[in-house]
Amino acid sequence: MAKLRMGIIGVGGIAQNRHIPAYKKLSETVTIEAISDINTLTARTAAGKFDIPNVYSDYRDMFEHVDAVTICTPNKFHAEISIAALQAGLHVFCEKPMAMTPEECQSMIDAADESGKVLAIAYHYRFMKDSRAAKRIITANEIGEPIVARARAIRRRKVPGWGVFTNKELQGGGSLIDYGCHFLDLSLWLLGNPKPVEVTGTAYNKLSRMPGEVNMWGEFDREHFEVDDHVTAYIKFDNGASMLFETSWSANVKSDEETLSISGETGGVDLFPLQINQMKHGMLMNSEADWIPGEDDPGLPQAENFINSCLGNEELIVKPREAMAVSQIVDAIYKSSETRRSITLN
Ligand SMILES: NC(=O)c1ccc[n+]([C@@H]2O[C@H](COP(=O)([O-])OP(=O)(O)OC[C@H]3O[C@@H](n4cnc5c(N)ncnc54)[C@H](O)[C@@H]3O)[C@@H](O)[C@H]2O)c1
Repeated sequence: MAKLRMGIIGVGGIAQNRHIPAYKKLSETVTIEAISDINTLTARTAAGKFDIPNVYSDYRDMFEHVDAVTICTPNKFHAEISIAALQAGLHVFCEKPMAMTPEECQSMIDAADESGKVLAIAYHYRFMKDSRAAKRIITANEIGEPIVARARAIRRRKVPGWGVFTNKELQGGGSLIDYGCHFLDLSLWLLGNPKPVEVTGTAYNKLSRMPGEVNMWGEFDREHFEVDDHVTAYIKFDNGASMLFETSWSANVKSDEETLSISGETGGVDLFPLQINQMKHGMLMNSEADWIPGEDDPGLPQAENFINSCLGNEELIVKPREAMAVSQIVDAIYKSSETRRSITLN
Protein backbone atom coordinates (compact mmCIF):
# COMPACT_ATOMS: atom_id res chain seq x y z
CA MET A 1 0.00 0.00 0.00
CA ALA A 2 1.29 3.48 -0.87
CA LYS A 3 2.20 5.63 2.11
CA LEU A 4 0.73 9.05 2.67
CA ARG A 5 3.47 11.70 2.25
CA MET A 6 2.98 14.21 5.06
CA GLY A 7 4.20 17.77 5.52
CA ILE A 8 4.06 19.60 8.85
CA ILE A 9 3.52 23.39 8.93
CA GLY A 10 4.37 25.11 12.24
CA VAL A 11 6.75 22.93 14.23
CA GLY A 12 6.24 24.06 17.82
CA GLY A 13 4.89 22.31 20.89
CA ILE A 14 1.91 20.39 19.51
CA ALA A 15 3.69 19.31 16.32
CA GLN A 16 6.72 17.99 18.21
CA ASN A 17 4.86 16.50 21.17
CA ARG A 18 1.82 14.98 19.47
CA HIS A 19 1.69 14.87 15.68
CA ILE A 20 5.26 14.01 14.69
CA PRO A 21 5.59 11.23 17.32
CA ALA A 22 2.22 9.79 16.21
CA TYR A 23 3.22 9.75 12.51
CA LYS A 24 6.58 8.19 13.42
CA LYS A 25 4.72 5.35 15.16
CA LEU A 26 2.43 4.90 12.16
CA SER A 27 5.34 4.57 9.71
CA GLU A 28 3.66 1.74 7.79
CA THR A 29 1.06 4.14 6.42
CA VAL A 30 2.64 7.60 6.61
CA THR A 31 6.02 9.19 6.05
CA ILE A 32 6.94 12.73 7.12
CA GLU A 33 8.52 14.20 4.00
CA ALA A 34 8.86 17.85 4.94
CA ILE A 35 8.42 20.51 7.58
CA SER A 36 8.05 24.27 7.45
CA ASP A 37 8.08 27.01 10.06
CA ILE A 38 8.49 30.79 9.83
CA ASN A 39 11.26 30.26 12.34
CA THR A 40 13.78 28.38 10.19
CA LEU A 41 15.97 27.51 13.17
CA THR A 42 12.99 25.79 14.82
CA ALA A 43 12.31 23.89 11.60
CA ARG A 44 15.95 22.83 11.09
CA THR A 45 16.32 21.73 14.71
CA ALA A 46 13.12 19.68 14.54
CA ALA A 47 14.18 18.15 11.21
CA GLY A 48 17.40 16.97 12.84
CA LYS A 49 15.67 15.70 15.98
CA PHE A 50 13.02 13.71 14.09
CA ASP A 51 15.06 12.80 11.01
CA ILE A 52 12.84 14.64 8.52
CA PRO A 53 14.52 15.05 5.10
CA ASN A 54 13.19 18.39 3.79
CA VAL A 55 12.84 21.84 5.38
CA TYR A 56 11.06 24.74 3.65
CA SER A 57 10.93 28.33 4.83
CA ASP A 58 7.81 28.95 2.70
CA TYR A 59 5.19 26.28 3.30
CA ARG A 60 3.92 26.55 -0.29
CA ASP A 61 7.21 25.13 -1.54
CA MET A 62 6.45 21.77 0.09
CA PHE A 63 3.06 21.35 -1.61
CA GLU A 64 4.28 19.51 -4.72
CA HIS A 65 6.23 17.02 -2.60
CA VAL A 66 3.47 15.86 -0.21
CA ASP A 67 -0.07 14.40 -0.27
CA ALA A 68 -1.25 15.96 3.00
CA VAL A 69 -0.29 18.64 5.51
CA THR A 70 -0.73 18.96 9.27
CA ILE A 71 -1.16 22.62 10.26
CA CYS A 72 0.14 23.52 13.73
CA THR A 73 0.55 27.28 13.50
CA PRO A 74 -1.18 29.88 15.70
CA ASN A 75 -4.94 30.04 15.04
CA LYS A 76 -4.73 33.16 12.87
CA PHE A 77 -3.09 31.19 10.03
CA HIS A 78 -5.27 28.05 10.11
CA ALA A 79 -7.72 29.20 7.43
CA GLU A 80 -5.20 30.77 5.04
CA ILE A 81 -2.85 27.77 5.05
CA SER A 82 -5.66 25.18 4.94
CA ILE A 83 -7.26 26.85 1.93
CA ALA A 84 -3.92 27.15 0.10
CA ALA A 85 -3.16 23.46 0.72
CA LEU A 86 -6.64 22.28 -0.30
CA GLN A 87 -6.43 24.37 -3.49
CA ALA A 88 -3.09 22.70 -4.22
CA GLY A 89 -4.89 19.33 -4.06
CA LEU A 90 -3.69 18.23 -0.61
CA HIS A 91 -5.53 16.66 2.30
CA VAL A 92 -5.47 18.91 5.40
CA PHE A 93 -5.30 18.09 9.08
CA CYS A 94 -5.59 21.39 10.96
CA GLU A 95 -5.11 21.96 14.66
CA LYS A 96 -8.04 23.23 16.73
CA PRO A 97 -9.81 25.61 16.79
CA MET A 98 -10.70 25.22 13.12
CA ALA A 99 -10.19 28.98 12.55
CA MET A 100 -10.65 32.39 14.15
CA THR A 101 -14.25 32.94 12.92
CA PRO A 102 -17.17 30.90 11.50
CA GLU A 103 -16.72 32.77 8.21
CA GLU A 104 -13.15 31.50 7.92
CA CYS A 105 -14.40 27.97 8.74
CA GLN A 106 -16.96 28.23 5.91
CA SER A 107 -14.21 29.25 3.45
CA MET A 108 -12.18 26.21 4.50
CA ILE A 109 -15.20 23.95 3.97
CA ASP A 110 -15.84 25.50 0.55
CA ALA A 111 -12.21 24.83 -0.43
CA ALA A 112 -12.47 21.23 0.81
CA ASP A 113 -15.74 20.68 -1.08
CA GLU A 114 -14.22 22.08 -4.27
CA SER A 115 -11.05 20.00 -3.99
CA GLY A 116 -12.73 16.78 -2.82
CA LYS A 117 -9.87 16.36 -0.32
CA VAL A 118 -10.11 15.46 3.37
CA LEU A 119 -10.26 18.34 5.85
CA ALA A 120 -9.98 17.25 9.49
CA ILE A 121 -9.70 19.27 12.70
CA ALA A 122 -7.67 18.09 15.70
CA TYR A 123 -10.36 17.83 18.37
CA HIS A 124 -8.45 15.02 20.08
CA TYR A 125 -10.75 14.70 23.11
CA ARG A 126 -13.05 12.65 20.86
CA PHE A 127 -10.27 10.05 20.60
CA MET A 128 -9.91 9.56 24.36
CA LYS A 129 -10.95 6.16 25.62
CA ASP A 130 -13.74 7.57 27.82
CA SER A 131 -15.10 9.60 24.93
CA ARG A 132 -15.21 6.74 22.45
CA ALA A 133 -16.79 4.46 25.06
CA ALA A 134 -19.41 7.11 25.90
CA LYS A 135 -20.22 7.44 22.20
CA ARG A 136 -20.68 3.66 21.96
CA ILE A 137 -22.95 3.73 25.03
CA ILE A 138 -25.12 6.51 23.59
CA THR A 139 -25.20 4.94 20.12
CA ALA A 140 -26.37 1.66 21.72
CA ASN A 141 -29.34 3.63 23.14
CA GLU A 142 -28.32 3.01 26.77
CA ILE A 143 -29.43 6.51 27.84
CA GLY A 144 -32.17 7.15 25.26
CA GLU A 145 -32.29 10.50 23.52
CA PRO A 146 -29.58 12.81 24.95
CA ILE A 147 -31.21 15.94 26.43
CA VAL A 148 -28.75 17.87 28.60
CA ALA A 149 -24.94 18.22 28.46
CA ARG A 150 -22.90 19.67 31.32
CA ALA A 151 -19.23 20.37 30.72
CA ARG A 152 -16.63 21.87 33.03
CA ALA A 153 -13.04 22.31 31.89
CA ILE A 154 -11.49 24.37 34.63
CA ARG A 155 -7.93 25.02 35.69
CA ARG A 156 -7.15 26.82 38.91
CA ARG A 157 -4.02 28.76 37.88
CA LYS A 158 -2.79 27.48 34.52
CA VAL A 159 -2.62 30.28 31.99
CA PRO A 160 -0.16 29.02 29.32
CA GLY A 161 2.84 31.26 29.84
CA TRP A 162 4.64 30.15 26.66
CA GLY A 163 4.03 30.63 22.94
CA VAL A 164 1.27 33.02 21.84
CA PHE A 165 -1.68 31.65 23.82
CA THR A 166 -2.45 35.02 25.44
CA ASN A 167 -2.09 36.96 22.18
CA LYS A 168 -5.59 37.93 21.03
CA GLU A 169 -4.52 38.89 17.52
CA LEU A 170 -2.86 35.54 16.83
CA GLN A 171 -5.21 33.25 18.79
CA GLY A 172 -8.57 35.06 18.72
CA GLY A 173 -9.23 34.56 22.42
CA GLY A 174 -8.09 32.71 25.52
CA SER A 175 -9.43 29.84 27.63
CA LEU A 176 -12.58 29.36 25.55
CA ILE A 177 -11.08 29.20 22.05
CA ASP A 178 -8.02 27.29 23.29
CA TYR A 179 -9.26 24.87 25.95
CA GLY A 180 -13.05 24.99 26.34
CA CYS A 181 -13.51 24.37 22.60
CA HIS A 182 -12.53 20.70 23.16
CA PHE A 183 -15.42 20.26 25.60
CA LEU A 184 -17.85 22.02 23.29
CA ASP A 185 -16.79 19.69 20.47
CA LEU A 186 -17.01 16.56 22.60
CA SER A 187 -20.42 17.55 23.98
CA LEU A 188 -21.83 18.28 20.53
CA TRP A 189 -20.58 14.92 19.25
CA LEU A 190 -22.10 13.02 22.15
CA LEU A 191 -25.39 14.92 21.78
CA GLY A 192 -25.49 13.76 18.14
CA ASN A 193 -24.39 17.08 16.62
CA PRO A 194 -27.64 19.02 16.98
CA LYS A 195 -27.62 22.54 15.52
CA PRO A 196 -26.90 25.30 18.06
CA VAL A 197 -29.66 27.92 17.86
CA GLU A 198 -29.21 30.22 20.85
CA VAL A 199 -26.18 31.06 22.99
CA THR A 200 -25.80 33.12 26.15
CA GLY A 201 -22.32 33.57 27.59
CA THR A 202 -20.03 35.65 29.73
CA ALA A 203 -16.26 35.92 29.34
CA TYR A 204 -14.04 37.27 32.14
CA ASN A 205 -10.38 38.12 32.42
CA LYS A 206 -10.23 39.61 35.89
CA LEU A 207 -8.04 37.14 37.73
CA SER A 208 -5.14 37.04 35.27
CA ARG A 209 -4.87 40.84 35.26
CA MET A 210 -4.39 41.10 39.02
CA PRO A 211 -0.87 42.15 40.03
CA GLY A 212 0.87 39.69 42.32
CA GLU A 213 -1.29 36.72 41.28
CA VAL A 214 0.36 33.33 40.94
CA ASN A 215 0.38 31.06 37.86
CA MET A 216 1.53 27.45 37.69
CA TRP A 217 2.35 27.48 33.95
CA GLY A 218 4.92 30.25 33.64
CA GLU A 219 4.68 34.01 33.27
CA PHE A 220 2.73 36.23 30.93
CA ASP A 221 2.12 39.95 30.54
CA ARG A 222 -0.64 40.74 33.07
CA GLU A 223 -0.92 44.40 32.10
CA HIS A 224 -1.74 43.52 28.49
CA PHE A 225 -3.77 40.37 29.15
CA GLU A 226 -6.67 40.88 26.72
CA VAL A 227 -8.08 37.37 26.36
CA ASP A 228 -10.64 35.48 28.46
CA ASP A 229 -9.48 33.33 31.34
CA HIS A 230 -12.94 32.24 32.58
CA VAL A 231 -16.13 31.68 30.59
CA THR A 232 -19.66 30.49 31.36
CA ALA A 233 -22.36 29.73 28.80
CA TYR A 234 -25.78 28.24 28.19
CA ILE A 235 -26.51 26.80 24.74
CA LYS A 236 -29.83 25.69 23.21
CA PHE A 237 -30.09 23.32 20.24
CA ASP A 238 -32.65 22.89 17.47
CA ASN A 239 -33.78 19.47 18.77
CA GLY A 240 -34.61 20.80 22.27
CA ALA A 241 -31.32 19.68 23.86
CA SER A 242 -29.36 22.19 25.96
CA MET A 243 -25.90 22.58 27.45
CA LEU A 244 -24.38 24.12 30.57
CA PHE A 245 -20.75 25.02 30.05
CA GLU A 246 -17.88 26.49 32.05
CA THR A 247 -14.22 26.73 31.17
CA SER A 248 -11.25 28.51 32.70
CA TRP A 249 -7.47 28.79 32.71
CA SER A 250 -7.56 30.61 36.02
CA ALA A 251 -10.48 30.29 38.43
CA ASN A 252 -10.88 30.43 42.17
CA VAL A 253 -11.85 26.79 42.65
CA LYS A 254 -10.54 24.06 44.94
CA SER A 255 -8.75 22.21 42.14
CA ASP A 256 -8.66 21.63 38.37
CA GLU A 257 -11.69 19.84 36.96
CA GLU A 258 -12.47 18.15 33.64
CA THR A 259 -15.94 16.65 33.67
CA LEU A 260 -18.66 16.09 31.13
CA SER A 261 -21.99 14.43 31.66
CA ILE A 262 -24.87 13.77 29.32
CA SER A 263 -28.38 13.17 30.64
CA GLY A 264 -30.66 11.28 28.31
CA GLU A 265 -34.34 10.38 28.52
CA THR A 266 -33.71 6.96 30.07
CA GLY A 267 -30.24 7.28 31.63
CA GLY A 268 -27.08 9.30 31.81
CA VAL A 269 -23.39 8.94 31.12
CA ASP A 270 -20.53 10.67 32.95
CA LEU A 271 -17.01 10.98 31.53
CA PHE A 272 -13.65 11.39 33.26
CA PRO A 273 -14.24 8.90 34.92
CA LEU A 274 -16.73 6.94 32.83
CA GLN A 275 -19.98 5.86 34.47
CA ILE A 276 -23.50 4.99 33.25
CA ASN A 277 -26.42 6.05 35.47
CA GLN A 278 -29.67 4.18 34.84
CA MET A 279 -32.97 3.04 36.26
CA LYS A 280 -33.14 -0.74 36.00
CA HIS A 281 -35.39 -3.38 37.57
CA GLY A 282 -37.05 -0.72 39.74
CA MET A 283 -33.67 0.48 41.05
CA LEU A 284 -31.38 3.42 40.41
CA MET A 285 -28.11 1.82 39.32
CA ASN A 286 -24.72 3.25 38.42
CA SER A 287 -22.13 1.23 36.49
CA GLU A 288 -18.47 2.22 36.46
CA ALA A 289 -16.03 1.17 33.75
CA ASP A 290 -13.40 -1.13 35.23
CA TRP A 291 -11.28 -1.24 32.04
CA ILE A 292 -11.66 0.51 28.72
CA PRO A 293 -9.79 -0.78 25.67
CA GLY A 294 -7.77 1.50 23.40
CA GLU A 295 -4.77 3.79 23.34
CA ASP A 296 -4.01 6.05 26.30
CA ASP A 297 -2.58 8.62 23.88
CA PRO A 298 -5.48 10.06 21.83
CA GLY A 299 -2.97 11.49 19.33
CA LEU A 300 -2.42 8.03 17.86
CA PRO A 301 -6.03 7.05 16.96
CA GLN A 302 -6.56 10.66 15.85
CA ALA A 303 -3.64 10.43 13.40
CA GLU A 304 -4.76 6.97 12.26
CA ASN A 305 -8.24 8.21 11.50
CA PHE A 306 -6.89 11.09 9.40
CA ILE A 307 -4.44 8.90 7.48
CA ASN A 308 -7.02 6.18 6.85
CA SER A 309 -9.57 8.78 5.71
CA CYS A 310 -7.03 10.19 3.23
CA LEU A 311 -6.29 6.67 1.97
CA GLY A 312 -10.05 6.09 1.57
CA ASN A 313 -10.20 3.31 4.16
CA GLU A 314 -12.15 4.94 6.99
CA GLU A 315 -14.79 7.57 7.67
CA LEU A 316 -13.48 10.81 9.15
CA ILE A 317 -14.50 11.17 12.80
CA VAL A 318 -14.17 14.96 13.27
CA LYS A 319 -15.99 16.37 10.25
CA PRO A 320 -15.32 20.00 9.28
CA ARG A 321 -18.98 21.08 9.58
CA GLU A 322 -19.02 19.73 13.15
CA ALA A 323 -15.84 21.68 13.98
CA MET A 324 -17.39 24.78 12.44
CA ALA A 325 -20.37 24.45 14.84
CA VAL A 326 -17.87 24.73 17.72
CA SER A 327 -16.47 27.93 16.21
CA GLN A 328 -20.02 29.28 15.82
CA ILE A 329 -20.67 28.72 19.52
CA VAL A 330 -17.30 30.21 20.53
CA ASP A 331 -18.00 33.28 18.41
CA ALA A 332 -21.54 33.59 19.80
CA ILE A 333 -20.29 33.33 23.41
CA TYR A 334 -17.82 36.17 22.81
CA LYS A 335 -20.53 38.25 21.10
CA SER A 336 -23.03 37.50 23.86
CA SER A 337 -20.51 38.56 26.48
CA GLU A 338 -19.74 41.82 24.66
CA THR A 339 -23.39 42.74 24.06
CA ARG A 340 -24.75 41.22 27.29
CA ARG A 341 -27.50 39.59 25.25
CA SER A 342 -28.23 36.11 24.01
CA ILE A 343 -27.24 35.43 20.40
CA THR A 344 -29.50 33.65 17.94
CA LEU A 345 -27.73 31.52 15.32
CA ASN A 346 -29.17 31.03 11.83
N1 LIG B 1 -5.12 19.86 20.38
C1 LIG B 1 -4.63 20.45 21.46
O1 LIG B 1 -4.95 20.11 22.58
C2 LIG B 1 -3.63 21.57 21.27
C3 LIG B 1 -2.66 21.79 22.24
C4 LIG B 1 -1.75 22.83 22.01
C5 LIG B 1 -1.85 23.61 20.87
N2 LIG B 1 -2.84 23.36 19.96
C6 LIG B 1 -2.99 24.20 18.77
O2 LIG B 1 -1.86 24.04 17.93
C7 LIG B 1 -1.50 25.26 17.32
C8 LIG B 1 -0.05 25.56 17.65
O3 LIG B 1 0.12 25.56 19.04
P1 LIG B 1 1.54 25.22 19.70
O4 LIG B 1 1.30 25.00 21.13
O5 LIG B 1 2.25 24.18 18.94
O6 LIG B 1 2.25 26.64 19.49
P2 LIG B 1 3.82 26.93 19.39
O7 LIG B 1 3.94 28.41 19.58
O8 LIG B 1 4.59 26.02 20.26
O9 LIG B 1 4.16 26.56 17.87
C9 LIG B 1 3.67 27.26 16.76
C10 LIG B 1 4.73 27.23 15.67
O10 LIG B 1 4.18 27.82 14.49
C11 LIG B 1 5.19 28.65 13.90
N3 LIG B 1 4.50 29.62 13.06
C12 LIG B 1 3.89 30.77 13.44
N4 LIG B 1 3.30 31.35 12.38
C13 LIG B 1 3.59 30.58 11.30
C14 LIG B 1 3.26 30.66 9.92
N5 LIG B 1 2.54 31.67 9.44
N6 LIG B 1 3.72 29.69 9.09
C15 LIG B 1 4.47 28.66 9.57
N7 LIG B 1 4.80 28.53 10.88
C16 LIG B 1 4.35 29.47 11.73
C17 LIG B 1 5.93 29.24 15.07
O11 LIG B 1 7.21 29.70 14.70
C18 LIG B 1 5.98 28.06 16.03
O12 LIG B 1 7.14 27.26 15.84
C19 LIG B 1 -2.51 26.29 17.82
O13 LIG B 1 -3.55 26.43 16.89
C20 LIG B 1 -3.06 25.67 19.10
O14 LIG B 1 -4.41 26.04 19.36
C21 LIG B 1 -3.71 22.35 20.15
